[in-house]
Amino acid sequence: MYCDTHCHLFKEYYEDIDGIIDNAYQSGVNRMIVSGCDGKSNKEVMKLIKKEGVYGTIGLHPEDVLNCTLEDLEFIERNLNHPKIIAVGEIGLDYHYGKETREEQIHLFELQLALAEKFNLPVVVHSREATLDTINSLKKFKVYGVIHSFSGSLETAKIYIKMGFLLGVNGVITFKNCNLKEVIKKIPLHSILLETDSPYLTPVPFRGKINEPCKILNIAEFVSNLKGVKLKELARITNENIKRVFDI
Ligand code: NI
Repeated sequence: MYCDTHCHLFKEYYEDIDGIIDNAYQSGVNRMIVSGCDGKSNKEVMKLIKKEGVYGTIGLHPEDVLNCTLEDLEFIERNLNHPKIIAVGEIGLDYHYGKETREEQIHLFELQLALAEKFNLPVVVHSREATLDTINSLKKFKVYGVIHSFSGSLETAKIYIKMGFLLGVNGVITFKNCNLKEVIKKIPLHSILLETDSPYLTPVPFRGKINEPCKILNIAEFVSNLKGVKLKELARITNENIKRVFDI
């Protein structure tokens, strides 16, 4: 059995979310972690987690930095005690689209890191072209968790692992000319989580189609070949990793 540790199953992207979840169950993906990004999607997460096998994380993504409100933050704080809310996320820093909001992004990120520390929950971190600032902010708090959609160098990977983070690997690893393959080859399996990041980052050979949690199997197959381990063993180790970080 597999778990998709990071997906966005929201109405904005899918017409039939129940159908997508059933598809996952039937493919042997019995658990999904749905990650909220803004006020609206965090509310959808609270509804989705009523389904069996569906867990949630709630947080405010850096791309939402100029739209989010104090009320959105209070909503997160109010709901972090829910037993099926297993982390604060997706939170982080993204300078690809918005270097001009750097200060605001850091402020929002650190407010949420403080929440994670207060509730003793892991964090799901989005970091794009912002490695140094991400590490600086993380170091200010007693936090642990996942670097979602990790795409950095081997050196960066080692720093995160040393800080107590796992690395989220998704369909990007199946893309042609992707340096990540060489990095992941050298990273021990016990530091890796498998995720789809649905609806984005659809793995090869399904590029161009919308991604969904059942595609975790294609990612698992690719990683098992890359690492030279049997699929069953990969599933066993990555499931143990999930238990270690998220306690599910
Ligand atoms: Ni995501």
